[in-house]
Amino acid sequence: MASQIFTDISLIANTREDTILIRGKELAHLPCVQNAYIVIEDGIIAEYGVMANCTYHSTGSVRVPGNCIVLPCWCDSHTHIVFSGSREDEFVDKIKGLSYADIAAKGGGILNSAKKLNAVSEDELFIDAWKRLETISLQGTGAVEIKSGYGLSLEGELKMLRVIKRLKEKSPLKIKSTFLGAHAFPAEYKGNHGDYIRLMINEMLPVIAKEKLADYIDVFCEKGFFSAEETETICKAGKQYGLKPRLHVNQLNSIGGIETGIALNAISLDHLETLTPDEIRMLGQFNGCSTLLPAAAFFLQLPYQPARDLINAGAAVTLASDYNPGTSPSGNMNFVVSLGCIQMKMLPGEAINAATINGAFAMEIEKDYGSITVGKKANLIFTKPAASVAYLPYSFGNNLIDKVMINGLFI
Ligand code: NIG
Ligand code: FE
Repeated sequence: MASQIFTDISLIANTREDTILIRGKELAHLPCVQNAYIVIEDGIIAEYGVMANCTYHSTGSVRVPGNCIVLPCWCDSHTHIVFSGSREDEFVDKIKGLSYADIAAKGGGILNSAKKLNAVSEDELFIDAWKRLETISLQGTGAVEIKSGYGLSLEGELKMLRVIKRLKEKSPLKIKSTFLGAHAFPAEYKGNHGDYIRLMINEMLPVIAKEKLADYIDVFCEKGFFSAEETETICKAGKQYGLKPRLHVNQLNSIGGIETGIALNAISLDHLETLTPDEIRMLGQFNGCSTLLPAAAFFLQLPYQPARDLINAGAAVTLASDYNPGTSPSGNMNFVVSLGCIQMKMLPGEAINAATINGAFAMEIEKDYGSITVGKKANLIFTKPAASVAYLPYSFGNNLIDKVMINGLFI
C-alpha cells in the first residue's frame, strides 16, 4: 500500500505521544492539532502535525475539505452482537409498564434470545453478525468486543464463540471475544445452580481453551442471575484457562460484584447504573476500566450511570454500546457519546476519550488502537463539516460521519 497524505485538515483529535489509561480529571483533556496533515503508510499512522511543518505539498496529497475533523475510530469494548432475531415484543411490554426483571421472570429476556439462537445454524448467525459489524463500522467503530451468552448450553455457547472466531478472521475490524456462559441460568437449572456452573467449568471452559475461542470471561452478577460468590467461582475457573475477567455488575442492584471484580483484577467492570458512595470510591482506586453503557440505561429508562461522580473519584471511565437485542438494540457509538454528554454530563472531550483510548484499554489493544499516534493502526473517522469537537455529540442523531478508514483503507 502506498503512502496516503491528507492535508489542510481543520482538526485532528486525540493525538497522543504516550498511551496511558485516562482517569479522573485527565479525561477532560483531549489533545488536538488544528490545521493539520496526516500521513498513512501501509495502514499505519506514519506522521502527523501542523500544516506549517508539512513538506508534502506536491502531487499525491489529498486536501480534506474545510472544517472536517479526523479522529480515531470508536473502540466499543462491550457488545453482544451475535444474536438471532429481535425482541420488539418485549419492547412493547416495557412501554406498557413491565420492568426488565418482570420480563425476565416471564421467560423473556436473555432466555428468549437463547431459544432463538439455539434454533439457528452457525452460518445464519455469522451472516447476521457480519451485517451488524458492517453497520457499526460505517458508524465509526473500528474495534469491538463481542460476548457469547445466548447459547447457555455447551453447543450453543461454542456455536456463538466459533462465530466470533470467524468474524475475527474475516473482518478488518479488531475483535476481542468473551465467554459469557454465565449470562443467565437456563430454565432447567433454575433450582440447581451448581450443575450449570459445573457444566461451564468442566465442559465448556476446556473446549473454549483448547480451540482458543475466547480472550475473556464475563458474568452477569445480579439479583436473580449470578451471585458475587458464583461470579468469583466462575471467574477463578476461567483464569486458570488464561481468560481474564470483565463483568456485568450493578446494573439493577448492588450485590457485591464490584468488590469481587476488583479482587479478581478484572480488566473492566461494566454497567454501574446502581452505585453506593463506597463503590464509587472503590472504582476511583480500581486499576481497570469503569465502563458505562448509557444506551442500555436509555433503552430501559433506568437512571443513568453517575459518570461525574466516578470522574471526580478518579475512575478510568470508559463508554461502550452494549449492542444487544434486549437492552440496547443499537451499536451506534456516536449516540453513546452524545448520551454521555447529554444525560451523564460528560464533557465532549471526556466522552471521546472514554469511547476511544479508554475503550482500547478495556480490550487491551491500546498499543495499536484508540488514538492518533505514530505507529498505531490508521483506523480513522473523517467527519462532515463540524465547527468543533463539541459539535459531534451536540448534533446527536445526525450522521456526521463522512468516511471511515480501517487499516488505511476507506470502507
Ligand atoms: O448487558 N444485562 C445483561 N446483559 C445484557 C442484556 C441482555 C439481554 O437482555 O439480552 C446487558 O444489558
Ligand atoms: Fe452487556
